[in-house]
Amino acid sequence: MGKRLYFGSNLKMYKTISQTLDYLKELTERTKDISREEITLFIIPSYTSLEDASRQTDHGLCLLGAQNMGWEETGQYTGEISPLMLNEIGMDLVMVGHSERRHVFRETDEEENRKVKCALEHGMRALLCIGETMEQKEFGISPEILRMQMKIGLHGIDPSFADRIWVAYEPVWSIGVNGIPASAEYAAQMHDVMKDCLKEIFPDAGEQIPCLYGGSVNPGNARELISQKSVDGLFVGRSAWQADKFDALIRDAMEAARAAGK
Ligand code: 13P
Repeated sequence: MGKRLYFGSNLKMYKTISQTLDYLKELTERTKDISREEITLFIIPSYTSLEDASRQTDHGLCLLGAQNMGWEETGQYTGEISPLMLNEIGMDLVMVGHSERRHVFRETDEEENRKVKCALEHGMRALLCIGETMEQKEFGISPEILRMQMKIGLHGIDPSFADRIWVAYEPVWSIGVNGIPASAEYAAQMHDVMKDCLKEIFPDAGEQIPCLYGGSVNPGNARELISQKSVDGLFVGRSAWQADKFDALIRDAMEAARAAGK
């Protein structure tokens, strides 16, 4: 059997509770024949859907995550959701530092670091999202930006937690309706930078940390992206929000990855 591949979707501020439940039911049903030794599947719905989604879903088939989290257990933080609240409803995963959190809501690397630490200390996986803007890319500083986001985002984290850290590379210019997908070659170069940096941060465990690519992944580019040696998975937005289409994309990508010797 080949290397484990990761496929997930961030539902952003789409899908109501009932839409999320229907989607999860169809997605798990359609994909249940795929061995979970071969893939890890995860979905990150809106906060209001999480409790019902968690109860309804077989977490062995599909891990569930929150799109954000406050970094304290309790306190005067109006509007925030704490790790205790996410533990209470059986969350497997917390996404930290999505580009929309960083750029629309002005979150900083220091804040992402607190959230990553807090999620890990509360037994959840942390999916740290990183990525450069178009301006930074044009200055030729993408590797420096990625290294900075990883070195601050993962600062001071006990290496024993490394097996619950995932990283997603989502270049800001590639995400959403106006996004231009990164070429597979460019994504592979940036993933190599990430893998080297992870080994620097965690000399023993860094190599095992999965690096996912996200940003306008679609049926036309999924095969080539997942075929890159350093791309361990695909983190998909729009092209995953219909269960039948996501199922087809996953199967197609798996086939391409295995054909590429992964
Ligand atoms: P799109 O695939 O719609 O560009 O979104 C990617 C994303 O933001 C996943 O977190």
